[in-house]
Amino acid sequence: MQWNRESWQNFNILQQPIYENSDKLQSCKNQLKKLPPLVFAGEVRALKDELKSATLGKSFLLQGGDCAESFSNFSANNIRDMFKLMLQMAIILTFAGGVPVVKIGRIAGQFAKPRSSDFEEIDGVELPSYRGDIINGFEFTKEARKPDPNRMIEAYNQSTSTLNLLRAFSRGGLADLHEVHKWNLGFLKRGELAKKFQNLANEITRTLNFMEACGINSANTQNLRETVLYTSHEALLLHYEECLTRIDSLTGDPYDCSAHMLWIGERTRGINDAHVNFISGIKNPVGIKIGPNGTASEILALCDKINPNNEIGKMNIIIRMGADKIGDRLPKILRELKKENRAILFSIDPMHGNTIKTANNYKTRKFNQILSEVKSFFEICEAESVYAGGIHLEMTGLDVTECTGGAFNVTEETLKKRYETQCDPRLNADQALELAFLIADNLKKRVIKEQ
Ligand code: PEP
Ligand code: CO
Repeated sequence: MQWNRESWQNFNILQQPIYENSDKLQSCKNQLKKLPPLVFAGEVRALKDELKSATLGKSFLLQGGDCAESFSNFSANNIRDMFKLMLQMAIILTFAGGVPVVKIGRIAGQFAKPRSSDFEEIDGVELPSYRGDIINGFEFTKEARKPDPNRMIEAYNQSTSTLNLLRAFSRGGLADLHEVHKWNLGFLKRGELAKKFQNLANEITRTLNFMEACGINSANTQNLRETVLYTSHEALLLHYEECLTRIDSLTGDPYDCSAHMLWIGERTRGINDAHVNFISGIKNPVGIKIGPNGTASEILALCDKINPNNEIGKMNIIIRMGADKIGDRLPKILRELKKENRAILFSIDPMHGNTIKTANNYKTRKFNQILSEVKSFFEICEAESVYAGGIHLEMTGLDVTECTGGAFNVTEETLKKRYETQCDPRLNADQALELAFLIADNLKKRVIKEQ
């Protein structure tokens, strides 16, 4: 069967809302189809080139953001703080780790959530699960939990303004390397961590002064004053993705212009299912999450379908097995794949395999487990002679308390202080920076080893 942006509708589909009123759904989709694309296909091709270099071990992918964006937490300050955190992490990886960093936010479209159960029960009342603000409301009422197609338009509008601000921050001066001292988020708790970043910023300033003396400065060098932050989200709500998929006027190819990169989750990657059909037809770089039960043959089948020409920079396999399982499962997969010579960028999501519930019913993650899965990933990749190519994180520039541990030591008791996520627990800025320093150390080893 010929692929088109609607062909996914002929396949088995998981994790979708059922809209009561199909006329209303159609009318919202018609509206969305007429709205401008959020990204341009030329930008998507630029990202693919950058991911090619990450696949070849010449750069490193940093992908991160909220588990889910929400309509209620939408604010310029939150976007700015996330942007600053990405810059801080990227500079740690670039300067301390010695490699260029490709930055992709989980932002400007990350609204839909897969759920392990279709229903949620509280005090004997059962209602449909919350599936993200693009689908239904978080509030535990019958009305809020009803899927509403108008929410797709609201999510599109919020994504447009988010992207607009991100583009302004990227080019308007905030990302200028000379501002490195101002990227600090102000609440870095730990003296030691703050000092580490301060030392790095001082070194950068010294280097910039030297370069200035050589005649290289922000005024004459674009790379010093601007950055590029690409966007990504899970291609879960296919009604939305379909509407934003457009034919590029330069190449005649279909691109999903809702984001530069799209991924599909562990729960929706069935090879004969709708999500894989949809994602196989778009030209964007594609991520696939692989949990502890994933196999090399599943990955190969996905590569055959999504990247039949074995294009470098197209496929990103995102491992999320959990700290306790990765050591047992990943080496075998890498060994089997090695024989097949596929162009795959491997990155690690140390969040989704490490989610637990506390005694007082908070969904959380232990920072030590997150660190441990990242360390194992680097060790396993090195042992199997595969590049550890990137990291995929749920994090926020805010000072939340959602994951336990870290230098500031959030405990099960203090989780309630600022537990603000509507879905999964995110790293706060301190924890994200601490992790970035650890990855930088591993990257440094990777680079030195090659010399
Ligand atoms: C996610 O990235 O938010 C997610 C749900 O991931 P996974 O599909 O790996 O569970
Ligand atoms: Co999540």
